[in-house]
Amino acid sequence: MKCGKEERIVQPARREIKTAALSFPEREDQTLDPRDWEALRTQAHRMLDDILDYTKNIRERPIWQPIPDKVRMRFRSTLPVGPSSLTEVHQEFMNYILPFAVGNAHPGFMGWVHGGGTPVGMLAEMLAAGLNANLGGRDQIPIEVERQITSWMQKLFGFPENATGLFVTGTSMANFIAIVIARDAALGCDVRRQGVAAESKRLTAYGSAALHGCAGKAMDLCGLGSEALRLVPTDNRGRLELTALARAIKTDRDAGFAPFLIMATAGTVDTGAIDDLTSLATLAHGEKLWFHVDGAYGALAMLAPDLAPRLRGIERADSLAFDFHKWGQVPYDAGFILVRDGTLHRNAFAASSTYLRRETRGLAAGAPWPCDYGPDLSRGFRALKTWFTLKVYGAEAMGAAISRTSTLARYLEHRILNTPELELLAPVELNIVCFRYRADDSDRVNASIVVELQESGIVAPSTTVVDGRLAIRAAIVNHRTGQSEIDKLVGCTLALGRRITKSFTAAGHAAPKIAATDSSPRAKWESELREVESQMASDPFSLDLRFQRASLLSELGRLVDARTEYMKVLEREPYHLAALNKLGSVLIATGHRTAAGIAYKEAVVRHPDDSTSRVNYGNYLLEESERQEA
Ligand SMILES: Cc1ncc(COP(=O)(O)O)c(C=O)c1O
Repeated sequence: MKCGKEERIVQPARREIKTAALSFPEREDQTLDPRDWEALRTQAHRMLDDILDYTKNIRERPIWQPIPDKVRMRFRSTLPVGPSSLTEVHQEFMNYILPFAVGNAHPGFMGWVHGGGTPVGMLAEMLAAGLNANLGGRDQIPIEVERQITSWMQKLFGFPENATGLFVTGTSMANFIAIVIARDAALGCDVRRQGVAAESKRLTAYGSAALHGCAGKAMDLCGLGSEALRLVPTDNRGRLELTALARAIKTDRDAGFAPFLIMATAGTVDTGAIDDLTSLATLAHGEKLWFHVDGAYGALAMLAPDLAPRLRGIERADSLAFDFHKWGQVPYDAGFILVRDGTLHRNAFAASSTYLRRETRGLAAGAPWPCDYGPDLSRGFRALKTWFTLKVYGAEAMGAAISRTSTLARYLEHRILNTPELELLAPVELNIVCFRYRADDSDRVNASIVVELQESGIVAPSTTVVDGRLAIRAAIVNHRTGQSEIDKLVGCTLALGRRITKSFTAAGHAAPKIAATDSSPRAKWESELREVESQMASDPFSLDLRFQRASLLSELGRLVDARTEYMKVLEREPYHLAALNKLGSVLIATGHRTAAGIAYKEAVVRHPDDSTSRVNYGNYLLEESERQEA
């Protein structure tokens, strides 16, 4: 090198390298690939057969079983230094891992919110592992597959074309990413260098008391603190209360805080409630706040035409988090974040490093890369199993599976309402049903019921707390679940409830108290029903008594009986105003919408001055047009 003056170039001292140390073995068997590919192929087919059989015969297995100590101890061994044969290790998997998993592929699994997976997703995951693609960046078709899914999701959720999307582990991570983008949008990108400690603004975010716990964790992770997330009360359907929210925002502004984000939920984890997304979007944008929707499992209800209208307003979100691994049945994990403004998304995560230099040609082309949209650099090919699932089954079948699980939830609701020993604890909005066995020491009795149900291996719900009461919580997410699993859940709960309350009583705990002696509205209706029925025995032709009986049956949730009774009233008096309207409501609740429309219309035609009939029929027509539009 020639510079102005002679420079002495300092060379590192040369180490003498023995050439023997550099002589690499030529043989392929020094790699980690098999020496005998044919033997591997045979073993691979066996492994594939075993796992396919597992899914095919899943109904014959217990959902879950307690792990024996001996099995647990097997997984406390030291790091294996020498090799084992693949056949042996696979056998270990079959004997000691496979039987002791959670069992969410089983149709009787109803705990938490777990998807059931599909064989198609499993095979795609195998291909992804074979390809061993790293989707952090670079010019490769796997990233185009991910972009394809982003584009499908843009259209599904009514987001614009410049919206960006990213696969992540799950909604916990997706919510975190959304909060970071919202934070940076509120504070400006300098916060990425200077940190929130340098900020004078104290940001506050808002969600309902039913918001998933990961939101508070995310606030903590991005330096804002979990207490800066204000949890606003919910209404009687578990939805964020708008007036309380507006009040909370104003109180914070008056106190010098800087509100920046509203987090709505489409399908709360406890009860499946869907916040009023349209009103929240209006409020958020009016207040100039970021509007995020946590649609972890509920967002994919968009695929089901009968449920999609309930998500109205989701298209106005600034960001949307959801999982394909829940209602989308894609094997774990496959979370997703969709962001309306791709530039803000990139601003929050893009970073330059010399070793990640982008080019316009070659492997380093194709910018922006997925690593510009989230915290991960190395990323697996989650998009492939999602792409396979959506292509092989099609959106219609996926939507039908989602819709079916919601119908099953309504069937479970119906069974609960028709079983006096059981009590429904929350309205059934989507596919989650919270209920309990009636007993004095109810929390303890129901906690024991759930543990025993899980240990039975027949059905596996989980628990939650609704209005301070422990609930048996059945989240029907799995596409394999059918009516027989719901019947088993009800049957086993009753059998266990009776046994457990008896054993508690024998052991000196409080005895169960079912309806008759309590002073709840239900007990009152039941006693009134008995009274009406005894009067009907001596006056079987009284129309009034029959109508009263129908109304009480309806209050008690015995909807099919109530329907029959209202029809009997109408057989005798076809224009009975209250019977027409009440029959309409029962028909809606039992899924007979067209017949409900006829009843409501008849009420309007026969009683044109009655405002209740007009409201009922008006609401019905509105919902029908929304359904058709959807
Ligand atoms: C409403 C809601 N948000 C967030 C999450 C967290 O999602 P993940 O487990 O995929 O991180 C869940 C999980 O059930 C959820 O139901």
